[in-house]
Amino acid sequence: MEIIIFDTAQQLDEYGANYFVNTVKQKPNAVLGLATGSTPIGIYEKIAEKYKQGEVSFSGVTTYNLDEYAGLSPLNDQSYSYYMNHHLFSHIDIDLKNTNLPDGNASDLQAECKRYDAMLQTQPIDVQLLGLGHNGHIGFNEPDESLNGGTHLVELKRETREANARFFSSLDEVPTHALTMGVGSILKANTIVLAVRGADKADIVKQALTGPITTKVPASLLQTHPRVIVLLDREAGRWLA
Ligand code: GLP
Repeated sequence: MEIIIFDTAQQLDEYGANYFVNTVKQKPNAVLGLATGSTPIGIYEKIAEKYKQGEVSFSGVTTYNLDEYAGLSPLNDQSYSYYMNHHLFSHIDIDLKNTNLPDGNASDLQAECKRYDAMLQTQPIDVQLLGLGHNGHIGFNEPDESLNGGTHLVELKRETREANARFFSSLDEVPTHALTMGVGSILKANTIVLAVRGADKADIVKQALTGPITTKVPASLLQTHPRVIVLLDREAGRWLA
């Protein structure tokens, strides 16, 4: 595991963006795993800048997102589908047909999970971007006695709904369920880039990266992966020696 601590969030964003841009330059038909939340926004902005400067084309790229809320239409501005269009896809030349998220609005959510997994089987992810939840979740894989390998429907913990309520007008509006890629699928990615910012994540960063490997801290399973790059700002990395 390579851990890089940056002095500023801008440096973290620049490094993260360059990593993805260089991946696509080397492999124009790369399959990228993408994440949502507040952390990747700066990385996506810098990727869009580099595209506008003519540094890279995404026309051959395929993307898979980690997760999506259940019950939100892609037109809902809190859906992750909307987020991805808003923060990245509408700013680059990616073919929207090659962008994939679980459909949280599908009539049969179990069938939707199977469909998503079947697609992931055919297109292994080259680089997977991850953020980190305060309770150690990755995607929406919440701490539990055991974890699911594949895409599945998950009931969100209250703390996760509270953390994400800042994007909604009230806690009641935060969906109670989501579809998420499983930890097994995440760990199949060739390379994983975990980006974490802020003092409020310092504790969980330390637990995830240096604590016991346990399903109670889903991100700790990243310790078992051979190619993980961890990007931290100074605050998130403060408890790592
Ligand atoms: C959500 C997402 C995660 C994300 C986490 C942290 O729960 N499902 O993929 O990593 O939030 O988000 P933030 O970066 O806003 O702290």
